[in-house]
Amino acid sequence: MDIKSVILAAGKGTRMKSQTPKVLHEIYGKTLLGYVLDNVKNITSENFVIVGHHAEEVEEFVKKNYTNAKTVLQSPQLGTGHAVSMVCPELENYEGLVLILCGDTPLIREETLREFINFHTENKSDLTVMSTIFENPTNYGRIIREADNTLKCIVEEKDATAEEKAVKEVNAGIYCLNWGKIKGAFSQLTSNNAQGEYYLTDIIEWGKKNSLNVNAYILENNEEIFGINSRINLAEATKILTKRVLNDLMVNGVTIVDPDSTWISPDTTIGQDTIIYPSTYIEGTNKIGKNCKIGPCAHLRGGVEIFDNVKIGNFVEVKKAVIKSNTNVGHLSYIGDSELGSHVNIGAGTITANYDPLSKVKSKTTLKDDVKIGSNSVLVAPVTVEEGANIGAGTVVTKDIPAWSLGITRSPLKVFADWVKNKLAD
Ligand code: UD1
Ligand code: CA
Repeated sequence: MDIKSVILAAGKGTRMKSQTPKVLHEIYGKTLLGYVLDNVKNITSENFVIVGHHAEEVEEFVKKNYTNAKTVLQSPQLGTGHAVSMVCPELENYEGLVLILCGDTPLIREETLREFINFHTENKSDLTVMSTIFENPTNYGRIIREADNTLKCIVEEKDATAEEKAVKEVNAGIYCLNWGKIKGAFSQLTSNNAQGEYYLTDIIEWGKKNSLNVNAYILENNEEIFGINSRINLAEATKILTKRVLNDLMVNGVTIVDPDSTWISPDTTIGQDTIIYPSTYIEGTNKIGKNCKIGPCAHLRGGVEIFDNVKIGNFVEVKKAVIKSNTNVGHLSYIGDSELGSHVNIGAGTITANYDPLSKVKSKTTLKDDVKIGSNSVLVAPVTVEEGANIGAGTVVTKDIPAWSLGITRSPLKVFADWVKNKLAD
């Protein structure tokens, strides 16, 4: 059956205290909304992002980065039910499934969404809500069940009685609906509640009243539905995500010497027997091969492809670069917009000067196989050092260097005999 998603992203995000809309805040250089859109992209045929607060910025982001997503404006923002009702005109004759998610819940995994949809289909459900158990359920909507354990309704914190507040099963804010069966609810929601909002959660009761098959899918790992409302939550979500990434890497044969001080983005793949040393920070999308040594204190900024047996040492920053096998970048270097062959050795303190701040142009540095760069050299891009060439320490390379030759810029060393002795005698 066809599946489309609706992603709620129109809310204000007041607690972020930010000029940036909440869903455009980032974890490892990727927006919260980007995580959600990436998680549904292999599942759905089309995605609707409900925008409202800072609509233009969010629209621009979606248009630029996600061709399979469309934005729909909600103005004013009268609640989550009102938000979903904005897509009714878009889906007038649609009969497939609609998956509803929140743009501020980036940790949900694609596999979980697939299981959730399977559960919905296998149970011949008309409406399935995802729930989970929290020891401290404060602020979430509570799942209220009948005596026979079937669903009754969802009650928001602000509307809940003391007895309802004691319920630990909460609404994750993720729903799967047979659109044709449920769409009628959206014209019938009311705002008779503590917040004066049209609650999406009221579709549960509506479904029951209309004799539809309404179910809850209980998610075991409640970390996946962790929602971001503040900067504190943003840091916590980064920790949860990082722990998941590091555990997956270790299970697959990567050594992480100190998981507490290592940060690796979920869009980084790493081969077996590679060792990541402490205080390493890896963001964006990267591919690292087998048997590499990365860090301590290395910084990979994205767009990095490292082949096997490569060493990236301490205080080395790498951005948008291909580094072939058996190459060493041992210490204190910056490698950006570059292509390094295999068996290349980069001396300590080498810099690829890739950016011209006047023209704002970034240029490429190419170092072919077996090139050796002496310490403290500057490679002023665009520049190519051909196969096997050597660059003397302290050289500023401003033109291409032919294969197997030596390039060196160095004023002669002068030695003044007894200079210090004479100075002290003065
Ligand atoms: C909502 C649920 C609650 C659930 C929780 C899970 C309702 C009424 N409550 O509460 O049961 O436990 O999510 O995280 O649905 N939004 C819009 N337009 C609006 C209002 C909100 O697009 O008019 C968007 C927000 O940007 C956000 C999402 O909807 O992405 C959820 O809104 P939020 O106000 O955070 O809902 P909660 O109070 O967390
Ligand atoms: Ca709210």
